[in-house]
This record gives sequence, C-alpha cells and structure tokens, in this order.
Amino acid sequence: MTVMQVNAKVGRAESEPAEILVLIHCEGDGLTQLGTASLDKMLGGALRGLIDSKEFEGKANEVLLYHTQEKIPAKRLVLIGLGKKKDVTLDSLRQALGHAVKRVRQAKVEAFAVVLPTVTPKGSNLVEVAQMMVEGAILGNYQFTTYRSEKGSSKDVSAMIILAPQKSQLRQLAEGIRRGVATAEATVLVRDLCNHPSNVMTPSRIANEAKAVAKEPGVSLKILEQKDMEQLGMGALLGVARGSHEPPKFIILEYNGTKKKDERPVVLVGKTITFDTGGISLKPAENMEHMKADMTGGAEVLASMRATARLKLPLRLISILPVAENMPGGRAMKPGDIVKTLSGKTVEVQNTDAEGRLILSDALAYAQRYKPAALIDIATLTGACVVALGQFAIGMFGTDGKLKDAVRKAGFRAGERVWEMPLWDEYFEQLKSDVADMRNIGGRGGGMITAALFLSKFVGDCPWIHLDIASTDWSERERAYIPKGPTGIGTRLLIQYLIDRSL
Ligand code: BES
Ligand code: ZN
Ligand code: ZN
Repeated sequence: MTVMQVNAKVGRAESEPAEILVLIHCEGDGLTQLGTASLDKMLGGALRGLIDSKEFEGKANEVLLYHTQEKIPAKRLVLIGLGKKKDVTLDSLRQALGHAVKRVRQAKVEAFAVVLPTVTPKGSNLVEVAQMMVEGAILGNYQFTTYRSEKGSSKDVSAMIILAPQKSQLRQLAEGIRRGVATAEATVLVRDLCNHPSNVMTPSRIANEAKAVAKEPGVSLKILEQKDMEQLGMGALLGVARGSHEPPKFIILEYNGTKKKDERPVVLVGKTITFDTGGISLKPAENMEHMKADMTGGAEVLASMRATARLKLPLRLISILPVAENMPGGRAMKPGDIVKTLSGKTVEVQNTDAEGRLILSDALAYAQRYKPAALIDIATLTGACVVALGQFAIGMFGTDGKLKDAVRKAGFRAGERVWEMPLWDEYFEQLKSDVADMRNIGGRGGGMITAALFLSKFVGDCPWIHLDIASTDWSERERAYIPKGPTGIGTRLLIQYLIDRSL
C-alpha cells in the first residue's frame, strides 16, 4: 500500500489547476521566491500586499492559506515560510512540507501541488531536495487511528505533485521521490509497529510482520523458535523471555542485491522488546506505557530491510531481530541469576530491567557467523541516554573510524543526528561480577557507556557501531513532521547509510 502518491512534472504556479498550491518562501526575499511577478499581477498584487503588511514574512514554520477567488486556476494558495535563506538546511525543507501537508489536511483537501523551491541548501542537489520534500510531506501526514471508532473528519492527504520549471530537472526529482518514498514509508511502518499496543504487537505478531517483509523480492526469512534457541544456547535471550507467556522469536532476514555470493554483508541488529515491564526489577508505573515502543530498534531494522529491497540497493544486507517480552511472571529471571550467553560468556543478572543488552548479546554473537563488513545495532537501551542527550541526538559508540564517519554523515543528511560517546575500557571495571564473567549493570555513573561496553564484549573484531535511541524514539510533543509518541527516528539514518554505501 502506498501512503501517498508523489509525482513531479513541468508546471507553473500561474497555470496549475490545483485545489491547493503550496508556495515556499524565504524571509526577506520579496517576491523572488514567492512565485513570479506575473503570478502576483494575476492576483492583483495580493502577494506583495501580504508581504508588505507583514501578514506573511516567510519566517520558519509560518503558514498562511489564501483564497485566489479564481484569479488563477489554483483555488487556494498555502504559503510556507522557510526562514532566512542563509539558514536553510535540508531539514528546513522537511519541516516546510510537514507544515504544508498539515494545513492541506486541515482544509480537508486530499491532493495538492507544490512549486519546487528555488533555494537549494548549501552542498545539496535536486535529488536531495525532492527526497526531503517527500519525507516531510509523508511523515507530516502521519496519524495512527487504527483503534479509534471515530476516525475524525480529516482524511489522509493522498497525493502530491511537485511542479518544476524545467523538463531537465525531472529525472533527478524522480530519483529523489523514489528515495523519499522508501525512507518515509519505512518510518511509517516503524511508527505503526510501535504504536500498536503490546497486547497486539506480541513477539508472534512481529514474526508475522517479518513474513510480510519477506514477500519483497530478494528477501528470505528464517525464524528460530524457543527450542532452536535452547539448542544453540541463547541463554540470555531465553532468560529475558522466561517471565512471559509469549514465546520469544529470533528473526533473521537476508537480502542479496549483488551478483557476488561472497560479498560480506552489512548486518543490522535491533532490540525488539515488545513490552518492557522491567521484569522482577519492576519499573515504576508512571509512563510505563511508553515501553510498548521498546521494540523500536527491531522495527527499524525490519523496515530498513523492506526499504533496501524496494530500492533494489546493490549490497548484501542481514537484519536480525531478537524478540521477547520482559515480564515478571512466576518463572521470571530474578536478580542474581546467572545466564550463559551464546558466546559462552556468563552474565550475572543483577537487574532484570537491563534486558536489552542481554538479548542483544546473543544477537551480536550470532551476527558473527556472517563475517559482517559492518555491524550496526540499534536499541532503546538506556534511560541514561535520555538524561545525557535529551531529545535531539542519538548516542553513538563504535570501533571503526570510517564506519563512524559514514553513520555520522548519514545521520546528518537524514536529520537524525548522532553524537559519539566514549567506549573506553576503563569503564569495564564497573561491569565486573563476583560470581560470573560480568554483570549486566554498571552501577552509578555512565549508564549509557557501560551498556555499550557490555555489548562490545560480544562483537568480536568486526567494524561495529552501537546506536542508543532511547533519547529519540518517543516524542512528548508534535513537531513539523514528528508526531507525539513513537517517532521512528533512526530508520532514515539506517537507510541513508545503506544508500550512501551502495552509491
Ligand atoms: N528500555 C529501557 C530503556 C529506556 C528508558 C528506553 C527510557 C526508553 C526510555 C531499558 O531496558 C532499561 O530499562 N534500562 C535500564 C537499565 C538499568 C537498570 C541499568 C535503565 O536505563 O534504567
Ligand atoms: Zn529494561
Ligand atoms: Zn528495555
């Protein structure tokens, strides 16, 4: 199912017969951005009037709807401010289209046209401009209404046309649209998976979602059941799942877009806890409902697989999802219990709420069999990440400079920025156990770091990155193209990394 039909064609504001025509305008730019002088003339000087009277100045996030009274073929204009030209970034364009689509929806209109803005952010090209516009529109349009009886009067905006002045621009725009649709639809999938409550989105349901993704051409799927995990010795994942009636799953998806059979793959691993109560080390009740999104990493890894297959990227990709529900049932792990991980290392579980690193330790050890060219895990891992970074940065740890640079760049382009944290061995002291090879909590201080260091003990020596997305996976308020609740942040970063890598 396509979320929004997006196309580009040659067209002009003066002659496009749209229900709503969106114009994007920079602050202090007079009429040069806001369409041609001839458009203003047809409108009887209305645009100049709006600017001169400061009713619309083009400030970032400014929105104004204007009825054209049939003076031009478009019935209404929506003017969107982009801020000062020198400050415009790729993300300004996403935000602009996020605001635009919300205004279109508010007007109960289902299709709109938007004039290609004449500003291109520094160092970017038309492909990127189109990609950002599409991402902003599709993501700004997102709503989760599955469980509402009253769906409300505002329907989804289902179509957008980008109007370009020249035919020679259409090829680049089409490529940008293709990428934008893939990254945005992947993010929509992640938001949906995380919005569904844990009584619906169980480990078995995640397995069904993986089956749906495996229908994409070139994708194959393997699911390990509890007995398989017992045979392999995945004691950490099994330990976490013990307290729940929901059987755990270990999901592996493979895609090969290259001709070469021996190409080393990129391996993505995502924490997939369908609900984190904390287990016997029970979490406080306040905001515990957010823990239905403790599967964000896994959802992102799954959605990245779908996007990669849809974009037919020329690389090998493996996505791994260790899936469990963390519950305090009668057979649940208890503090002090010792589990034997797939790697052979033993772990003393001093806190059952530090379950993410446990299931990831088995998944990271399993990933080694693919001899990854790059191994990236992504997880809502620590509350300490939220404390350290707030809402606007993903915590990044890694062992390989080149891979870190590539991920940093992808995050910047995706508007999902990472910030590097230290992975120094001195911190490992905090993870020493009196009775096992290590313990699963690091005590006071550096909680995000000790969690990452724990994971590092299971990755061997392949190039590895760990991303802690506990800071960004849930938004307390609605923004231009980020809804309140599950955000799906991290998805576009991963896909951008894969696109960059395959170029
Ligand atoms: N899923 C949580 C981390 C989390 C917290 C994600 C807030 C999103 C928002 C994780 O499993 C957890 O509970 N971590 C503990 C670890 C602690 C016991 C060492 C934490 O951070 O409190
Ligand atoms: Zn936890
Ligand atoms: Zn958790």
